[in-house]
Amino acid sequence: MNLSTTIADVHFSTCLMNAAGALCVTQEELETLGRSRSGAIVTKSMTPAFRQGNPEPRYYSFPGGSINSMGLPNLGYPAYAEIIPKLRKFGKPIIASIAGLSPVDFLEAAQTITSVQPDLIEINLSCPNIPGKPQIGYDVEASRSLLLQLKDVLTVPFGVKLPPYFDPVHHEAVAGVLQEVGVDFLSVINSVGNGLVVDPDKERVVIKPKAGFGGIGGRMIKPVALANVRAFWKLFDGQMPIIGTGGIVSGTDVFEHVLCGASAVQIGTAFVDEGVTVFQRLEKEVSEILHRKGYESLLQCRGTLQEL
Ligand code: SIN
Repeated sequence: MNLSTTIADVHFSTCLMNAAGALCVTQEELETLGRSRSGAIVTKSMTPAFRQGNPEPRYYSFPGGSINSMGLPNLGYPAYAEIIPKLRKFGKPIIASIAGLSPVDFLEAAQTITSVQPDLIEINLSCPNIPGKPQIGYDVEASRSLLLQLKDVLTVPFGVKLPPYFDPVHHEAVAGVLQEVGVDFLSVINSVGNGLVVDPDKERVVIKPKAGFGGIGGRMIKPVALANVRAFWKLFDGQMPIIGTGGIVSGTDVFEHVLCGASAVQIGTAFVDEGVTVFQRLEKEVSEILHRKGYESLLQCRGTLQEL
């Protein structure tokens, strides 16, 4: 089955890939992705210097999904600037995710990483796990100002990783800014920030940072993810490439994201739970669905969700 896709003129032989954050911090993890069936190698969001991240336990998986408060553990962008060229041998697109605790952080990372020419750059506007630092994507003016500055230094196509929005007014405001800036793709959604999972036996929280508050991912956030993919698909009249992330556990979930308008999908919680074999399994499952329905390619269904 043809599961290929194109985002900002970059060709992906399959549209399934890891989400920034999941098992993509070290060179070894990135090379493992290179050898896997993942359609791309997406790096962990990088900051100027090495970060240990938040204290452990900081990730917890449960039947409905996961909660994490990793705190952007990463090697720092100088290290990724050295690793990225070494990943070319795998012959698949490389997406560098950049983050920061201030606009200067983002700009420095953008300047260095653009010089090693990953295929795409994903700007993370949505990490909910840095104590005292709000998610930039919830501040439209701060997002606008940052993106306009980044646009001046980036020489590769770039997109934004957005937090979930819960009101059409917010989708419209954000889409307006992204249109004005002229981003090349959207990646929606990051985890649903600042959820709380309770262990009723132990009568306590399940992760240590931020008194147990963290980003919720996995199965339970799929409806929120689908709504965001769909809202942005409509606001951009189907012209904006969207990478759908959130709640993808089965081939059916991939299919639903594409129906809503995704051109590609990223896998977070299920990848952490299952390892790299998840890509092969999802490929097989979604191919079977498409074959059964008589489609020739996944993109044939992109955005075709019917309304009642
Ligand atoms: C983290 O490192 O805390 C997760 C990354 C993110 O949510 O963007």
